[in-house]
Amino acid sequence: MSELNLQELEKVAETYEKLLAPALFSEWAHRLADAAEIRQGQHILDVACGTGILARVIAERVGTDGSVSGVDANPGMLAVANRIAPEIEWREGDAEALPYEDASFDAVLCQFGLMLFSSPKTALQEMQRVLRPGGNLTTAVFGSLDDLPDYAAVAEVYERVVNKSVADALRMPFSMGDRDALASVFANAGISSIKMETEEGTACFSSVRNMVLSDVKGWFPFAGILLDEDTIEAITEEAEIALKAFQTSGGTVEFPVPVHIVTATKS
Ligand SMILES: C[S@@+](CC[C@H](N)C(=O)[O-])C[C@H]1O[C@@H](n2cnc3c(N)ncnc32)[C@H](O)[C@@H]1O
Repeated sequence: MSELNLQELEKVAETYEKLLAPALFSEWAHRLADAAEIRQGQHILDVACGTGILARVIAERVGTDGSVSGVDANPGMLAVANRIAPEIEWREGDAEALPYEDASFDAVLCQFGLMLFSSPKTALQEMQRVLRPGGNLTTAVFGSLDDLPDYAAVAEVYERVVNKSVADALRMPFSMGDRDALASVFANAGISSIKMETEEGTACFSSVRNMVLSDVKGWFPFAGILLDEDTIEAITEEAEIALKAFQTSGGTVEFPVPVHIVTATKS
């Protein structure tokens, strides 16, 4: 974990919310809320809520009779989440030791968090524990890099311009994309009856530079990776070439993003 103070964490989280969330994450919030069949009056937990994109969508759906709690390990993400939606309950906590009683929620969701946990199995068991019987567990996980040639190309740029460990940090969010391996993680957590749908979304960054900045300034510092301006410039120049095939005439970078949505109802 990084050594950043709260103010620095918050600054990174602001860039995440401004550049990365709208380009890559936000379109999934409604899809996940649909998959979880969120209804008015329900009490919902968003695990690894980040800046709260999904929790905000859920809050609209459950209305004032229901409630949403967002839990995340990163206080900077939670500070931004709280500034945008202070009416939601945000709590600092670890997905692998959720700070809630058994059977507290009607549904538990986790959007693009599973790949980041040191033990996805433990986190899934925790999500099941806090879910009431009959409630839905819904998670979203990116497909593998083999199906995302754009991010694979950018990772190669990082490997050439910086080093393999930074390139591997970029590859990591796509490390659970194999469907069979993903199903095994659920089975090992004791969740054998799952439904897995692979859906396609579209990433859309306003420019190559903003795609690079979304990673370099929007989450790399959380992982302790701090790159200087000359290095960022060199990465951007090479990424302009590597991403030519994904650039539109208007300069935006657009590409399909496969995502596995896994749902399971607690018996
Ligand atoms: C890719 S972001 C996704 C955030 C949000 N769900 C979204 O869709 O924008 C992953 C989030 O997982 C959080 N995270 C990573 N490890 C965690 C853990 N062990 N417990 C709780 N949150 C964790 C990070 O702080 C980050 O906010």
